[in-house]
Amino acid sequence: MTKLSDVSLDSGFIQAQTLQNNTVWQVSFERIASKNALNLAMYQDLANVLAGFVAQPEARALVVTGSEGCFTSGNDLADFASAGADGALSSESPLWQFMLALRDCPKPVVMAVEGVAVGIGSTMLLHADAVFAAPSASFAMPFAKLGLCPEYASSFILPRLAGYLQAAQWLMLGETFSAEEALHGRLINAVVQEPLAAALEHASKLAAMPPQALINTKQLLKASDKQAIDTCMTQEAQVFAKALSGKEFAAAIAAFFTRK
Ligand code: COA
Repeated sequence: MTKLSDVSLDSGFIQAQTLQNNTVWQVSFERIASKNALNLAMYQDLANVLAGFVAQPEARALVVTGSEGCFTSGNDLADFASAGADGALSSESPLWQFMLALRDCPKPVVMAVEGVAVGIGSTMLLHADAVFAAPSASFAMPFAKLGLCPEYASSFILPRLAGYLQAAQWLMLGETFSAEEALHGRLINAVVQEPLAAALEHASKLAAMPPQALINTKQLLKASDKQAIDTCMTQEAQVFAKALSGKEFAAAIAAFFTRK
């Protein structure tokens, strides 16, 4: 039986704990010096937590959150630059392993957003079962600005959630948008003063439900889009890998790391 203490957390930037008699697991991004940017070691830890959470029969709901008033600034841009076209989204990469583990998690996942949710910080919300955000939370999917393209099936899921025009605006311009706009675009359940408290309360309600019924419900909710999401992620990954070795990405990375 997998306990949280059996899960290896090696990055030093991911914290996890169990609550409510081990029924609720909570995992947080803890790398505030980089605005909780997610590097490969952190993705590996997150994939490990998800695997442990799924394997532990007592674990009923997972809460994902940031720290120090910040969700995450998304993928570590230095990692993207050094991983190169073959590395970042290859099927063996920790990033890909994390994306699959969250996407395919059979049990409910609840997210709490404070501060910035950039890049995969926004697109991972598309794979949660409930999301609560603070009034000051901000969201952005600046893939095109970076010379990249949408990932994590955002090019499939977002138009269906928010409508084509809203999705195109967010994914083409990559501008920051507010929690109210995220609510309007159906990315989040609610704007609340204390998103972590709301997420934990939601998770504890889920933990009190018959667990197999929730697993069945989630599977059925996801069934009709499953194949399309899988196909979309593969297509996105091909375009993304090419873009990572392109001039537009090189220029955007250079601009980011030399900004004043
Ligand atoms: N990858 C690597 N480092 C990052 C990062 C990222 N995604 N986001 C922030 N950082 C680092 C900055 O380089 C900076 O490091 P420094 O103190 O050594 O210079 C530190 O985190 C703080 O960032 P800063 O930009 O000063 O904070 P801010 O509050 O002004 O802005 C953001 C916060 C998130 C809006 C801004 O950092 C940003 O746009 N980051 C890039 C987001 C991004 O493009 N993510 C990838 C999407 S695919």
